[in-house]
Amino acid sequence: MSNILEVKNLCVSYGGIKAVKNISFEVPKGEVVTLIGANGAGKSSTLRSIVGLVKPSAGKILMNGKEISGKSTEQIVAQGITLVPEGRRVFADLTVLENLKIGAYMRKDNLEDDINWCYDLFPRLKERHWQLAGTLSGGEQQMLAIARALMSRPEVIMMDEPSLGLAPIVVQGVFDIIREINKQGKTILLVEQNANMALHAAHHGYVMEVGSITLSGTGQELAENESVKAAYLGKARNKK
Ligand SMILES: Nc1ncnc2c1ncn2[C@@H]1O[C@H](COP(=O)(O)OP(=O)(O)OP(=O)(O)O)[C@@H](O)[C@H]1O
Ligand SMILES: [Mg+2]
Repeated sequence: MSNILEVKNLCVSYGGIKAVKNISFEVPKGEVVTLIGANGAGKSSTLRSIVGLVKPSAGKILMNGKEISGKSTEQIVAQGITLVPEGRRVFADLTVLENLKIGAYMRKDNLEDDINWCYDLFPRLKERHWQLAGTLSGGEQQMLAIARALMSRPEVIMMDEPSLGLAPIVVQGVFDIIREINKQGKTILLVEQNANMALHAAHHGYVMEVGSITLSGTGQELAENESVKAAYLGKARNKK
């Protein structure tokens, strides 16, 4: 399977602070890949650098074999990659429908099919298309943030902690949607602190610790790994 995204020796620094230290990983086309790790591990910095919101201090990012590092966010999004940022930032004073239209601002063609596709994925948004986004519940806002990202017709959708702060039943709904979007052909790079759900949804995963990748494997391998269980899954076994 070909890699849609390749990150090679990526470094990200903020002033003197090295947030991402020489990491490399791949995202195969059609897969769900997850980056897990504790607070401050460098997960968001990695996603932000892929989409050009922060400039890597070293390394390369390739999409479909072509270098995207150094390009503007607009150029990168136009190549087919998008980010649903941490904290589900929707435009609070615009309606659901207006938010969806903004997600497609770089396109000039007919949006109706895409809007209907989003409404099929998220019937709740259809019911509430007239409602101001700021008055939606947390889970509904996360659905809208994902749907808005889909409106740019990305090949790769990156999500930064989509389950954060949501009730367990809503978290389950978000992961069902991730699986459904993937089934419909989108490649997904998912950053999560809910390691259990993320590893079960993912084909491959990488563990980040203080800026470095310390482990990688299939989602299942990592979910069964003793050190992952101890550190991230709250299932540490008593040592004999
Ligand atoms: N704009 C910034 N300026 C300075 N330091 C930053 C900036 N953004 C992130 N950092 C630092 O970089 C490191 C990695 O942060 P990052 O947000 O990438 O981690 P994370 O893995 O996403 O954490 P979390 O799980 O808490 O979201 C942290 O030490 C953080 O304080
Ligand atoms: Mg983060």
